[in-house]
Amino acid sequence: MECVREYQLRNVSSHCSISEMDDYDLSKLLDKPDKPRLNIERQRSFDERSLSELSIGLSRALDAYETAYSPGRSALDTPVSSARNSFEPHPMVADAWEALRRSLVFFRDQPVGTIAAYDHASEEVLNYDQVFVRDFVPSALAFLMNGEPEIVKNFLLKTLQLQGWEKRIDRFKLGEGAMPASFKVLHDPDRKTDTIVADFGESAIGRVAPVDSGFWWIILLRAYTKSTGDLSLAETPECQKGMRLILSLCLSEGFDTFPTLLCADGCSMIDRRMGIYGYPIEIQALFFMALRCALVMLKHDTEGKEFIERIVKRLHALSFHMRSYFWLDFQQLNDIYRYKTEEYSHTAVNKFNVIPDSISDWVFDFMPTRGGYFIGNVSPARMDMRWFALGNCVAILSCLATAEQAAAIMDLIEARWDELVGEMPMKICYPAIESHEWRIVTGCDPKNTRWSYHNGGSWPVLLWLLTAACIKTGRIQIARRAIDLAESRLLKDSWPEYYDGKLGRYIGKQARKFQTWSIAGYLVAKMMLEDPSHLGMISLEEDKQMKPLIKRSSSWTC
Ligand code: GLC
Repeated sequence: MECVREYQLRNVSSHCSISEMDDYDLSKLLDKPDKPRLNIERQRSFDERSLSELSIGLSRALDAYETAYSPGRSALDTPVSSARNSFEPHPMVADAWEALRRSLVFFRDQPVGTIAAYDHASEEVLNYDQVFVRDFVPSALAFLMNGEPEIVKNFLLKTLQLQGWEKRIDRFKLGEGAMPASFKVLHDPDRKTDTIVADFGESAIGRVAPVDSGFWWIILLRAYTKSTGDLSLAETPECQKGMRLILSLCLSEGFDTFPTLLCADGCSMIDRRMGIYGYPIEIQALFFMALRCALVMLKHDTEGKEFIERIVKRLHALSFHMRSYFWLDFQQLNDIYRYKTEEYSHTAVNKFNVIPDSISDWVFDFMPTRGGYFIGNVSPARMDMRWFALGNCVAILSCLATAEQAAAIMDLIEARWDELVGEMPMKICYPAIESHEWRIVTGCDPKNTRWSYHNGGSWPVLLWLLTAACIKTGRIQIARRAIDLAESRLLKDSWPEYYDGKLGRYIGKQARKFQTWSIAGYLVAKMMLEDPSHLGMISLEEDKQMKPLIKRSSSWTC
């Protein structure tokens, strides 16, 4: 109970917003206390709402708002969680905090991260005893929300130091800005020394490149700054340089014809061959969000200014490209289905020469009349229409999705609840790849068989991203329903890494237990729902300068 008490107490004063920083400005919100509480148009982002809605009474206000403004909610008539009418923490919360603290990793007595999984029952440790950059993000958010920013600062500084290492794979020297996928602290009890080993891909299975690590690092630096109000960390020459090095890697000019970032397979949370090579949505959304975060943290000095200019240009091009070509809804699908091919010149409608025959059958049934999403990948003659959770949620949080698109993504999740959530929130991607296609795409990967692991498995960690997206779009009922599902199983099942099956009913074949980001993800989801102002750490307001593309969207007009 100790940690629960601590959690409740700290929660009261856990964060202060930085009014100078870009978005989610609470002081701005304070200026408009008289806004009508319930008269919120559906499209408005959470950030724009009045402070009165951000108070503890918020939960009820949003309930009523949902009832009035969320069409299609009939699909959501599940029993409500205990959190609805009271803020008594769920009994699982205390267990989760205990498990999260057990996963702490120390370097010279300072906490610097959390281990990926604390599963002693598992015979094979592989690299689950390491601190993964992406896995630490929900842990970091949980600690920030609980008013414990020190570990996050230590982590940011430690990984920054690692970035400075000379990195090689065989005889090839990696880019200076590369951030590690993971690191491990080695304790020598005799000599009483701690040393660190880091993995930049040179030890990783398949030698995959952790493209997402640098983006998460920037996003986390902003979350830390936003939550603590401590601008001094981001302003240090070391952090400024770290950001610039990451940005040089992804803003450099090459042979690109698109503003999206070209990647090899396995470059992100899906760190094995899964046919995500090219321009995967997860990376594009994180890239966009990291660019926006860096924009508000870079100093306007000579070096910083140059990057700021490049970022602004890239953001414009990237948002246009993503909103136009990655967006799929009923109307768009119908248009692609009727595409002509072999069109030359700038007047081409079918710009990427997508052959309609290449569209998989499943998508015609999957696409609801109302709703839409950013597809997995777009490149010449290739549209990977699989739905990916992380990319779509980050697109909402970063405002890569317009307000209409964000609402449409939530509509789709509601309409396709069984497919995307089923019995455990939520699927990493949909649908699974099977049979011959699985052989070709995964290289016969036995860990990624259909509806398992990265191939349509259900990952509890995604709960925090779903919850954040729900709060941002004002669709609280969806988050509640998802959290209820997680609460009915996660503790009992010892916090698995992932679940298998079409509905996510089975604990994953090779899933670790006590997977830290499953635990932290649950805590973050709970804390955000309890105090939605936490959302500001991980969400950006719409940039008014980036004019949304005026585009017909069947998911919105019908
Ligand atoms: C798996 C996941 C990856 C995660 C790692 C550690 O490899 O695919 O996203 O970072 O496990 O949990």
